[in-house]
Amino acid sequence: MSKQSVSQRVTAPSLRMRKQRGEKIVCLTAYTAPMAQILDRHCDLLLVGDSLGMVVHGLPTTLGVTVEMMILHGQAVVRGSSHAFVAIDLPFGSYERSCEQAFDTASRILCETGAQAIKVEAASGVADSIAFLTGRGIPVIGHVGLRPQAVHLDGGFKARGRSKEECARVLEEARATDAAGAIAMVVEGVTPELAAEITQSVSCPTIGIGASAACDGQILVAEDMLGMFDWTPKFVRRYANLRSTVSDAIETFAQDVRSATFPAEAEEYRLAARK
Ligand code: KIV
Repeated sequence: MSKQSVSQRVTAPSLRMRKQRGEKIVCLTAYTAPMAQILDRHCDLLLVGDSLGMVVHGLPTTLGVTVEMMILHGQAVVRGSSHAFVAIDLPFGSYERSCEQAFDTASRILCETGAQAIKVEAASGVADSIAFLTGRGIPVIGHVGLRPQAVHLDGGFKARGRSKEECARVLEEARATDAAGAIAMVVEGVTPELAAEITQSVSCPTIGIGASAACDGQILVAEDMLGMFDWTPKFVRRYANLRSTVSDAIETFAQDVRSATFPAEAEEYRLAARK
């Protein structure tokens, strides 16, 4: 990668600057090169989230996602983008055991994809790893509040911080993530009050998902906001209805094939006319 192509992308320090200037940070998930090409010019940050296990691979949770899957999708998104900062999730089981395990996985993912940062779900035990990676030059994004990789511990994908004790715990995890040097943190599924308190008490930008406009930026799963699914969580605003657009297009294609009106003459190859 040339010096020029590194500096053309949004950088970790410039994300922090946006918080200081009060400029909102625009983020979406991306898993493929063509989608990254479309999103890139509009977004400050593209996240190759482990939600790809559920969105693209049809898994019931994110727990079955592997490092190899993250690398393949990460490579595609880096190839498909040139402007946005690209971050990649460390999947479940690939970082929690020790600082060294986190470093091995994070460095492999960054080296093999060319992405700028990794993201970890920041339970209290993970702050040491965030500091360890940051101290060795790896930009880390934390993820607090609803943590999808803890789905079985929490008994489902439920909003967090609904009791005083839980609020205090999430706030503590956010402060520890910030103190450990995270360059940003995703805040998922919390009340507006807790999102505001976290955002005011940490120095890094907060990126909300189901966490109100109090956060410094917003992220959604692109397929959710584009209306690719029948069901989406309450916090998703649908900006398109691609599921029905795609279904209508396929229905028309099927009719055209069955009635032999596709392909037409204009869609056929012809031998070149002889001189
Ligand atoms: O995995 C993911 O896509 C995420 C975002 C939804 C924040 O963590």
